[in-house]
Amino acid sequence: MNLQQLRVLIVGCGNIAGGFDAERPASALPLTHAGAYVRHGGFRLVGCVEPDAVRREAFMQRWLVEKGFATVDAAAAAGPYDVVSLCSPTALHAAHIAAILSLHPRLVFCEKPVTMTAADTAAAVQVCAAAGVKMAVNHNRRWAPDIVRLQRELAAGSAGPWGAVRSAIGIYNKGVLNNGSHLVDLVQMLLGPLMLLSAGAPSTDHWHDDPTVPALLQTRSGVPVTLNPAHAGDYAVFELQLFTERGMVAMEDGGAGWRVRRIVASPHFKGYAVLDAGQRASGEYHASTLAAVTNLHDALTSGAALASTGETALSAQRLCEQIHRRSRGLPEGDLPTLTEPVRRGLAPLSRLSPVSPVAPGSPLSSPSPATPTVPPPPVRPRPTEQIA
Ligand SMILES: NC(=O)c1ccc[n+]([C@@H]2O[C@H](COP(=O)([O-])OP(=O)(O)OC[C@H]3O[C@@H](n4cnc5c(N)ncnc54)[C@H](O)[C@@H]3O)[C@@H](O)[C@H]2O)c1
Repeated sequence: MNLQQLRVLIVGCGNIAGGFDAERPASALPLTHAGAYVRHGGFRLVGCVEPDAVRREAFMQRWLVEKGFATVDAAAAAGPYDVVSLCSPTALHAAHIAAILSLHPRLVFCEKPVTMTAADTAAAVQVCAAAGVKMAVNHNRRWAPDIVRLQRELAAGSAGPWGAVRSAIGIYNKGVLNNGSHLVDLVQMLLGPLMLLSAGAPSTDHWHDDPTVPALLQTRSGVPVTLNPAHAGDYAVFELQLFTERGMVAMEDGGAGWRVRRIVASPHFKGYAVLDAGQRASGEYHASTLAAVTNLHDALTSGAALASTGETALSAQRLCEQIHRRSRGLPEGDLPTLTEPVRRGLAPLSRLSPVSPVAPGSPLSSPSPATPTVPPPPVRPRPTEQIA
């Protein structure tokens, strides 16, 4: 296929820009911006910005980037760009978005969080819109094919396979802004807008200024959603369980796996319906970054809608900031501007569970099939009295 080549600039040449893919086999699905652009084939890596000269050179060689620069302003020399990927540290995003706009790209693919505060993110979304520049935000599960299918199935309500959603339980660590925003965004994608009911005590498990906080929220139709913390020093975890009318579906390992528990007749209590032990299936999370850049390409070449935007990210960030404030007993508007967090209390890397990297030999290290991997829920066996 002869794809239109879009010109790309990548700002910040660290892990999410390309590092996570640097040593993965060519057959593995890409987890990074550079890896996905190269795999897609409809992008040309024209430039990159990285103040660390050694890292910049290594990045240019690994991803065959044409020109490297120490600053965003200097990158004007190789413009114009269709797409700018913003992969610098979060504390620099607000200033970098302003600098990027002077390069007049058509689209900014921004890493999350967009900025350190909801106010700065709102301003960034507004200036991009005013300049006619599209903004996509890498809340990557919005592009995972299996999560998109689940969204459609849930939206079908009683006509869909799951029926009504009764409650949702999320488990996360590494900060309410950093990973909590992924979780809030995912729940809002699946269940619609959330409102905060209460927040629990904050715990500093990874970043100085971004605690992990338990919270109780609810959807517009009153479905309760709890956010539950684990400690990042123990292991990385990012999971979501949905209890529905017709069974339970859980995203596990950050989306690399799913568990579906079907309704069966209790083997112990006559006349009771219960959930079985569940079946595990692999997920398509690792297809999300390639799907993201495909969406970017379609947005610029055929006017497709972006699946994850500045607005959707801002909505999640506002809630996360509200959770943080509530957990500290701060009134609205009183949260001090967050500084770039500093890593602390990390478990040794070898102990962290592989949320993103794929274990060698895993079936997930080859491209995911196009067919659904979340098993459909069962047909209810027969009407029975429910256990409370
Ligand atoms: N979507 C996700 O799940 C996900 C995962 C990881 C990181 N992130 C986000 O991506 C961003 C980067 O995270 P990372 O883990 O790749 O960090 P990183 O530290 O690995 O990479 C950041 C890079 O930016 C460079 N840099 C520093 N100052 C710069 C400047 N003035 N101009 C250009 N580059 C500069 C650093 O030298 C470094 O190479 C953060 O916003 C982070 O929250 C998102």
